[in-house]
Amino acid sequence: MKILESAPYRYDKGIKILTLGKIDKAYDRLVDPIKKDDKVLDIGCGTGMLSFRAVLKGANVTGIDINPEMLEIARKRSEELKIKEKIEFLEMGVAELDHFENDSFDVIMSGLCFSELSEDEITFTLNQVKRILSKEGQFLLADEIKSRSLFKRIINWFLRIPLVIITYILTQTTSRAIKNIEQRITGSGLVIQSRKSNFLDNFVELIIIKEGKK
Ligand SMILES: C[S@@+](CC[C@H](N)C(=O)[O-])C[C@H]1O[C@@H](n2cnc3c(N)ncnc32)[C@H](O)[C@@H]1O
Repeated sequence: MKILESAPYRYDKGIKILTLGKIDKAYDRLVDPIKKDDKVLDIGCGTGMLSFRAVLKGANVTGIDINPEMLEIARKRSEELKIKEKIEFLEMGVAELDHFENDSFDVIMSGLCFSELSEDEITFTLNQVKRILSKEGQFLLADEIKSRSLFKRIINWFLRIPLVIITYILTQTTSRAIKNIEQRITGSGLVIQSRKSNFLDNFVELIIIKEGKK
């Protein structure tokens, strides 16, 4: 995905091809629990695909990302959509999540960003999510994963080859999958409340809560 982000104007098109157009439905589902006036943090917001959905549900959104060019596109869109007062985009990495106060957000969400983080960043981010999420809050995560099933991993590998080639020709972009995210989440003391994955188990949508609330 990083190549794709080096040309942010191609990002939205590339991601739609890579996911065979399924990303829009997945993101619509992911933001479903968000309510009017919720305070929402979008980690690795990119061009704002999730952030804007949350604003449309009436939330107040902070999107953070380390890529200034992706953020520029997101800011431009928020001006076009005339929703600037409901959304702020900050150039900041997950390493700076410790700047937020405890229990700051009703909802934290992240789409296709964890698969770009290092092992240490994932551990740090999950710990920070647990700290800055409100007691009754929800952490909504969607990302590409490596299936635990070897059979599905092999099928996936073969099916993806033509898709990766077509996407690369059209957009000069590609993507990669994340390993063991669910174990990492539960290992950090958060609780997975619901899990939805596709047939090949290579894309997962998770609703995660703080320990203690079930
Ligand atoms: C594949 S894009 C996804 C963007 C957006 N969430 C979406 O679904 O369209 C991943 C985003 O994560 C951002 N990112 C990668 N590493 C990051 C980090 N350490 N801190 C914050 N954002 C990061 C990238 O800059 C990029 O915009």
